[in-house]
Amino acid sequence: MKKIIFILSVILVFLLVVWLVTYMRRPNAGYQASVLDNEIVIYDIDELEELASEIIPQGGFDYIRGGAETENTMHRNISAFDDVDIYPRVLTGVDNPDINTKILGIDISVPVIVAPAAAHGLAHVSAEAGTARGAAAAGTIMSVSNYASSTLAEIAKAGKGAPQWFQLYLSKDNDFNKQIVKRAEELGYRAIILTVDAPVGGNRVADARNNFKFPLALPNVAQKSGKTKGQGIGKIFAAAQNRLTPYDIMRVKAMTDLPVIVKGIQHPDDAEIAILAGADAIWVSNHGGRQLDGAPGAFEVLSEIAQRVNKRVPIIFDSGIRRGQHVFKAIASGADVVAIGRPVIYGLALGGWRGVVSVFDYIKQDLRRVMMLAGTQTIADIKDVKLRPRAAIIMCEEL
Ligand code: FNR
Ligand code: LAC
Repeated sequence: MKKIIFILSVILVFLLVVWLVTYMRRPNAGYQASVLDNEIVIYDIDELEELASEIIPQGGFDYIRGGAETENTMHRNISAFDDVDIYPRVLTGVDNPDINTKILGIDISVPVIVAPAAAHGLAHVSAEAGTARGAAAAGTIMSVSNYASSTLAEIAKAGKGAPQWFQLYLSKDNDFNKQIVKRAEELGYRAIILTVDAPVGGNRVADARNNFKFPLALPNVAQKSGKTKGQGIGKIFAAAQNRLTPYDIMRVKAMTDLPVIVKGIQHPDDAEIAILAGADAIWVSNHGGRQLDGAPGAFEVLSEIAQRVNKRVPIIFDSGIRRGQHVFKAIASGADVVAIGRPVIYGLALGGWRGVVSVFDYIKQDLRRVMMLAGTQTIADIKDVKLRPRAAIIMCEEL
């Protein structure tokens, strides 16, 4: 009898140890992402950053918030919108503006979509599945990074058929590229976003100071980037294909019948090159100021790129969009739709999928208000608006 009790105790202890080890090694062990599930009252999107800093663990928060080096370019992403003004227009008869629009054949309820961003699991336990549910409820497009912390299948399921785009960082292994694009296609993703502005990560000082490593796995690329959990973003970028040329756009075009959007364009010549290589849309972005510090604010280059593109393909714009007036100014400067990165992640942290919906509700309401005050009934009307270039006028007056 004693022997049996001894053996059973040994087995029990063994099972306990196995359970403990498995528990400790679970992907997000020791990292407490938010579990909030509520709408958020938003007075100003800018305030979400500070509120989110109280919820998201520091390393994760700094990774999400941060830009490259001095963060000058990141800040210019927002301040650049102040260089142009919107003429208030009155007596226009505008009422109840219509903010519905269409991009690459997809109807959306607002010209604002979700930008692809890595590891939403840093912000909330529901990760990209939560964001996808929020984006679907908001009637807009969810872009999914291949460095997501939910699987492509989980995100597709959470979106329940709502439009989703898959963002690809090319792997050095072309078979893997083909497989992941095929998987995205099979799961119903409706476009491939090829990001080309990160052949190397920007110099993100906070991440270096924090020695930030992803506390969660990036399941969609784990197979190719080795053990993604416990790696810094620098290592993950290094595992991707670093040398990119226009031929890579052609290569991705040859892998799929889906539209291929080239993301990270900041020079008119590069827009031209991407279109000649087959891009179905251009995504003007400086990656939220996370790559080349010392570059212009993204909005500063939008008009010249739009002029060069000359409506041959649609333009998506991001980096610094926080307000209805920013959406308005970007569309008046040549964008067809804009995307938001950090505000969505903060909304997710502060309220789960409902928080994401709150962010979009705020932007929708703000955009409608700006449209009323600027005398524009539809998104097409905004495209015809001429903005007033403040800096240029001041310079002329000084001459
Ligand atoms: C990003 N961004 C990004 N872009 C991309 O193509 N693939 C990615 O995996 C990521 N990852 C990523 C993570 C985090 C935490 C952020 C904040 C951003 C860039 C993103 O798509 C977008 O260009 C910017 O976020 C837009 O700037 P705002 O809206 O954050 O100012
Ligand atoms: C970033 C990557 C993953 O900006 O695009 O951190």
